[in-house]
Amino acid sequence: MSDLTRFGISMESQLLKRFDQYISEQHYSNRSEAIRDLVREQLIHNDWKNEEKEIVGTITLVYDHHQRELSEKLTEYQHAVHEQVISTMHVHLNHHHCLEVLVVKGKTSQIQELAKMILSTKGVKHGKLVMTSSAEGL
Ligand code: NI
Repeated sequence: MSDLTRFGISMESQLLKRFDQYISEQHYSNRSEAIRDLVREQLIHNDWKNEEKEIVGTITLVYDHHQRELSEKLTEYQHAVHEQVISTMHVHLNHHHCLEVLVVKGKTSQIQELAKMILSTKGVKHGKLVMTSSAEGL
């Protein structure tokens, strides 16, 4: 870390007590690191509201590969937007189920649409889009 600026924060003692309990549960070593992470989280969340903002993330999904034409459909979706799918990992979980993790990059709106397409497909049992940031300025 470079260019650290110190500043004071005033807080009600009851709120601070709860915050200290939270940072202890989360295994933070000090308040500053916990506050930095909360600020980062909010800034990244705020970026997601901007549909034009470039984001990176992952789409994790579990699906039944015996579901008719599902594997082909999922592959088709990904090829259609291949510039947004940077990398994929496929794990054969058991006889029926596959786990896939897609690393995605693109505009917030595009990535959210892609995740909706994939996760709403019949045979996809569970999944989630996790959007993060390339961390510039964070
Ligand atoms: Ni598989």
